Amino acid sequence: MKIRAAVCSGLHEPWKVEEVDVEPPGPHEVLVKMAYAGLCHSDEHLRTGDMSAAPEVLQVFGVESMFPMIGGHEGAGVVTEVGPGVESLAVGDHVASSFIPACGRCFWCASGRQYLCDMGMAILAGPMMSDGQWRHSLDGQHVNRMTQLGTFSESVLANEASLVKIDPGVSLKAAALISCGISTGFGSAVDRAKVKPGETVVVVGCGGVGSGAIQGAKIAGARYVIAVDPLPFKVEKAKQIGATHGAASILEANLMIPELTEGRMADVVILTPGVLTGDLVAPAMQLASKDGRVVATAIAPFNQDQVSLNLFNLAMFNQALLGTVFGSCSPRVQIPNLLRLYQAGLLEVDSLVTQEYSIDQVQNGYDDLAAGSNVRGVVKFDS
Ligand SMILES: NC(=O)c1ccc[n+]([C@@H]2O[C@H](COP(=O)([O-])OP(=O)(O)OC[C@H]3O[C@@H](n4cnc5c(N)ncnc54)[C@H](O)[C@@H]3O)[C@@H](O)[C@H]2O)c1
Ligand SMILES: [Zn+2]
Ligand SMILES: [Zn+2]
Repeated sequence: MKIRAAVCSGLHEPWKVEEVDVEPPGPHEVLVKMAYAGLCHSDEHLRTGDMSAAPEVLQVFGVESMFPMIGGHEGAGVVTEVGPGVESLAVGDHVASSFIPACGRCFWCASGRQYLCDMGMAILAGPMMSDGQWRHSLDGQHVNRMTQLGTFSESVLANEASLVKIDPGVSLKAAALISCGISTGFGSAVDRAKVKPGETVVVVGCGGVGSGAIQGAKIAGARYVIAVDPLPFKVEKAKQIGATHGAASILEANLMIPELTEGRMADVVILTPGVLTGDLVAPAMQLASKDGRVVATAIAPFNQDQVSLNLFNLAMFNQALLGTVFGSCSPRVQIPNLLRLYQAGLLEVDSLVTQEYSIDQVQNGYDDLAAGSNVRGVVKFDS
C-alpha cells in the first residue's frame, strides 16, 4: 500500500510529505491507522544531527545513513491489520506508540524495567526489528522510521513490542501526548528522582516533557515546584498545571530557592530543556541541596562527552546525577496508568496542546516550536 508520511531526507532538510510504499505486516507486526501524533523535540534532534550516529555505529544496524527517515514517535491510533504470530493485539484495538519497545521477555522487561528492553537496541535506524527486512520504500530506496515507529504517517507498521494497548474509551489525543513526553517527564520526577512529599523540585525547561515532570512532582507531594524557562508563556502555563514558582533562567532560580528552603536548596532538579549540553550540569548541581538528585532527561548531541562537574562537591555533598530513558518506568504500566489519572481529572493534558496541524504541516509545527509558541503541537490525521 501507499501511505502519506512526513519524511526527512537528510541533515537540516525539512519534514516533507511523501508517498511511501509499505508492505503488509510481517511476523509480529501490526498496522495502525493513526489518529494523533505529538511533535516531541526528539524528532528535531534527528533533523539537526544531535541524534545522528557516526557511520561506524550505523554499520552495526546495517545502514549507511539514518536518512531518509519517517519522523514521529509519539502517537495513538487504531489497529487495522495484524501479521502472523501477533498475540497481544487484534484489529480494532486502540494503541499508543512506545518509542522504547517492551518485549516482556528479555532480562530487563522480566525484571520490571521495560524502559531498558533489549529490543531498544534497534530503534536508532534500520529495517524492521521483527525479521531484519525492510518494508518501507520511497522511489526504490529503503526508508528508516523514527524509533521503529514513524508516527508522522497515516498508517504505522510496527512490531507489537512498540505498541501499548489502551482503553478504547479514552481520548487518542491525550494518549498521543502521554505516549512519550508526559510519561517521560512524569517518570523523571516520580520514578527516577522519587520525589517525596514536602520536597522542593526545580524543572528546567517547560515543554511537553517538562510539563509531565511538573505534574509528577506535584502529584508526588512536592511543596515547591519551580518552573524554569526563558519563555514567559511557558512559565505561565507551568503555573497553571502545578508549578508554585517560575524563573526565566537557572541563575534566577538559584537566587530564589535559598529563601524558599531555609538555605538548603532544592531536593530535586530535573533537566528537560530542548537540548542538553555539558555546561548545564554544574549550574543544575548548584541548585541542588546536599543529598540532592539531578535528573538528566533531555537528550544531548550524540557525541557530547564534556561535562562541567565539580567532583569534590559531588562526593562531599552526597549528591546524585541520574540519567533516565522514558522516565525510568515501564511503558505498558505508565501509559495506561497516566491515562487513568487523566480520565480522573488529575493529570492535565488537553491544555498542553497549543496547536493542531495536518500531516502536511509537520515542518510548520517544528518551526512554531523553535519560535517558542508551542508547548505541544499535535498532528491530527483525517478520520
Ligand atoms: N530521556 C528520554 O527518554 C526522553 C524522552 C523524550 C524526550 N526527551 C528529550 O527531552 C527534551 C525535552 O523535550 P520536549 O519535547 O519537552 O522539548 P521542547 O522543545 O518542547 O521544550 C523544551 C523547553 O526548554 C526550554 N529551554 C531551552 N533552553 C533552556 C534553558 N537553558 N533553561 C531553561 N529552559 C530552557 C525551551 O524554551 C522549551 O520551552 C528533549 O531533549 C527531548 O529530546 C528525552
Ligand atoms: Zn519523545
Ligand atoms: Zn524486553
